[in-house]
Amino acid sequence: MKIAIGSDDAGYPLKENLKTFLLEQEDVEVEVHDLGVGEGETTHYPLIAAAVAEAVARGDFERGILVCGTGLGMAITANKIPGIRAATCHNVYSAERARKSNDAQVLTMGARVIGPESARTVLRAWLLSEFAGGRSAPKVAKITEIERKYLKALP
Ligand code: RB5
Repeated sequence: MKIAIGSDDAGYPLKENLKTFLLEQEDVEVEVHDLGVGEGETTHYPLIAAAVAEAVARGDFERGILVCGTGLGMAITANKIPGIRAATCHNVYSAERARKSNDAQVLTMGARVIGPESARTVLRAWLLSEFAGGRSAPKVAKITEIERKYLKALP
């Protein structure tokens, strides 16, 4: 699974921790590409959120992971990119549902909200869960339909 990961400076230590964790997975083969921010650098979170979300929307990566202080600014920004469904998850149930019900290809987390061990558990649940389809499929299709309606409305 090709994954793009990114953070702002507030999320940097957790991003690094999660990168290590991803590469330790034995039952799922992951290829992780870090789109920033680098050590000691500062950035505004929307820049990294857009870079990761655009890369996923283009199909360069199957999934994206974004970390900031709260996970919220990253999700708000990533969800502006057409085709992206980003979910902020700080518990395992939400992470599973984000995949199974919402087909969220982008996971966001807040380094000021969750500790690294819990974040790893949440990440693994999201990583191993797949979209269930079935009754969730028309609901996710509706999200795309609404998105297309407003894209068309743009000048
Ligand atoms: C810091 O800029 C903080 O606002 C950011 O990391 C994030 O929590 C925004 O949602």
